[in-house]
Amino acid sequence: MLSHDLLAWYADHRRDLPWRHTNDPYSIWVSEIMLQQTRVDTVLPYYKRFMARFPTAAALANATQEEVLKLWEGLGYYARARNLHRAAQIIVDRFDGHLPPLERELDRLPGIGRYTADALGAIAFDRDVLALEGNLRRVITRLFDLHLDPRLPEGEREIRRLGLTVMPPGRASEFNQALMDLGALICTPRAPACAECPIATHCIAHHNGTQEQLPFRKPRRPLPLRQSVAAVLHENERLLITRRPEAGLLGGLWGFPGGFITNGESNPLALSRVVKDQLGLEIVVDRPMPALSHTYTHFRAALQPFTCRVRSTSRHLRERGDVRWVKVEELDNVPMGKLDRMLATELERSPPWIAIAPPIERR
Ligand code: ADE
Repeated sequence: MLSHDLLAWYADHRRDLPWRHTNDPYSIWVSEIMLQQTRVDTVLPYYKRFMARFPTAAALANATQEEVLKLWEGLGYYARARNLHRAAQIIVDRFDGHLPPLERELDRLPGIGRYTADALGAIAFDRDVLALEGNLRRVITRLFDLHLDPRLPEGEREIRRLGLTVMPPGRASEFNQALMDLGALICTPRAPACAECPIATHCIAHHNGTQEQLPFRKPRRPLPLRQSVAAVLHENERLLITRRPEAGLLGGLWGFPGGFITNGESNPLALSRVVKDQLGLEIVVDRPMPALSHTYTHFRAALQPFTCRVRSTSRHLRERGDVRWVKVEELDNVPMGKLDRMLATELERSPPWIAIAPPIERR
């Protein structure tokens, strides 16, 4: 039987992961949120640090958002961290610090959608449900040789229906995680290792030789490039950083003032305009620094930073909740997105107030 072969393989080959040593729903919840869109190897050190600092929902609820974001820095998709934090506060206020086992209550917590509610249902609360993430979608699509796009609702519905026909009752936690491991180790997106697969004899795609073409997907469009500028404003060996509004991209994280530029505008002009709009400050744009780039999920970003000073006729900007003047060594203490962190690292190496040595003259 398929489930018997799969579970026997899992018993011998399962990955030894920290969230598999516990039944605690909070610990499993944190792992499932971190694992969304992120690889297991990347998650592991973050998970260990996070659980050491916040071993319970109450510990997480009592932290500041800034501390939570700092521990999340580098994992990306920061709404996950903000939602986890808010949900922990709700869990403490309404559920005495324990995750509610009921699906309709889980579903109402920030950041818990269908996938997370199903993963918690299966892994923490032993419900007979499938937690359809990327590995499960691919493995089940191949098992049944399904030629539907798994990202479309009808594809997902069919995968769920067929997957449930092969799931043994009462074994949802192992069955789901066995499919995750099979997808990660054997039934990989490219060049699946069918010769080592414990369920190859049950696999219709393997039988038909279609496994490498599945899951069927529409090709992605190339990502658009968005150009942005940032101001490295310095005064008395301190740098100005601002906290991004909660609701937008990288919400709640700190960074250098700036933003995207519109067509036809020169970089220094765009930067002066953006800083005036954001902070009411008149600036002098001095020198360009090395350009930086990073690929986000939906676009590629190219950032041109400039060292800048506050124009002497402009008022001095006082610190407030979302603005700080910091020393270069303090940049490490605040949570930042990828491009701002790259810029901060460059500034630690070479602060703008250290004069660049003039080129050596040739005789
Ligand atoms: N991806 C999502 N949840 C997972 C889990 N519990 N184990 C391994 N990979 C996962």
